[in-house]
Amino acid sequence: MGIDLTVNGDHLTSTSDPVTPLVDVLREEFHLTGAKPVCREGFCGACMVLIDGDPTPSCLVPAALANGCDIRTVEGLAANGGLNPIQAALEACDAVQCGMCFPGMVVSLTHLVSTRPDATREDIRAALTGNICRCTGYERIIEAALLALATA
Ligand code: FES
Ligand code: FES
Repeated sequence: MGIDLTVNGDHLTSTSDPVTPLVDVLREEFHLTGAKPVCREGFCGACMVLIDGDPTPSCLVPAALANGCDIRTVEGLAANGGLNPIQAALEACDAVQCGMCFPGMVVSLTHLVSTRPDATREDIRAALTGNICRCTGYERIIEAALLALATA
């Protein structure tokens, strides 16, 4: 018996051990390598995905608990094959260096822009409490989120 998931709109069945972290199922079984297993403790946000619409660290979710869920990874966030507003704004603001945090940032900020069009700078800071960046710094990322909110 498998674990049924909808990933970026595709209905997939995982045959992984039920306790396998979702991030590993996504990367190793489904070859979606955007989510990064960095801390594996729920602190860094590099593995962030949307589960039933909510930003969630996929390192903390055993595959079995995601059974029947709608999963959206960074690979599924492009808009009509192009960059979505937050992706375009992050690029325009030169808000990425090594890129390790980037997929998780995109997931959290895409959720914010789509659910809180009136979000303030403080709301953006709050939305990023689960995402750690160790090289770009947060100011450019926040500027990019404000730009995306202004242009979305
Ligand atoms: S790897 Fe999941 S929060 Fe860091
Ligand atoms: S761009 Fe390197 S950790 Fe954020």
